Amino acid sequence: MLLGVNIDHVATLRNARKGHEPDPIQAAEVCEKSGADSITAHLREDRRHITDMDVMTLKKVLKTRLNLEMAVTDEMQEIALRVKPHSVCLVPEKREEVTTEGGLDVAGQLTKITDFIQPLKNAGIEVSLFIDPTEEQIRAAAKTGAQFVELHTGQYSLAYGTPDEQEEFEKVRESSRLATALGMKVNAGHGLNYENVHRMNQIEDLNELNIGHSIISRAVFTGLSQAVKDMAEIVK
Ligand code: PXP
Repeated sequence: MLLGVNIDHVATLRNARKGHEPDPIQAAEVCEKSGADSITAHLREDRRHITDMDVMTLKKVLKTRLNLEMAVTDEMQEIALRVKPHSVCLVPEKREEVTTEGGLDVAGQLTKITDFIQPLKNAGIEVSLFIDPTEEQIRAAAKTGAQFVELHTGQYSLAYGTPDEQEEFEKVRESSRLATALGMKVNAGHGLNYENVHRMNQIEDLNELNIGHSIISRAVFTGLSQAVKDMAEIVK
């Protein structure tokens, strides 16, 4: 199984001071050197973390693949066609949300999504649809012509360690089987962490996991000790 790393949180930290550090491009390069198979960046309408310049630079410097997460809007389509990332992952987006909350309602806007992805596919960009693990959404995704789905593992992650875990896990597994049977490749992500991720290995059809929050959170503590030592050496 492949690992994609989402670097949005590095950009969030940078933007907190409206400066240059920590640099998400440098973070992406560290991720690649450390085993990431792709880098995901979500260019949000409000540009709260990743910027247009980040996306353009990532496209230039990455040695693996750039997966551009974006909403289904004309503006984002135009940017994707200009930057030509390896893949786009279409997500629903609400301005007020803290992070992507649910999957894209493909079934409810089949024609819109089918039309939207056609120019992207024509430009050689792989298209993935971030959807909830339900039969309705998977069957709809297959009709759009998208080559990938990314299954939303948020509910599984929340249910991990509770009586609902198995049920939520089965939804992801069954959805993965169905999507594969319908000819799509299957990625998954959202809320996966160092405790709950191991069960994804029990899903034989999964291609890639996209993980952000837990990796960047852990990086704070795996890196904090050295960062303090480096500063102490200068100060003392
Ligand atoms: N996949 C998609 C489509 C997402 O929107 C996100 C969150 O930005 C992720 C994966 C990664 O989720 P997390 O940060 O919880 O690992």
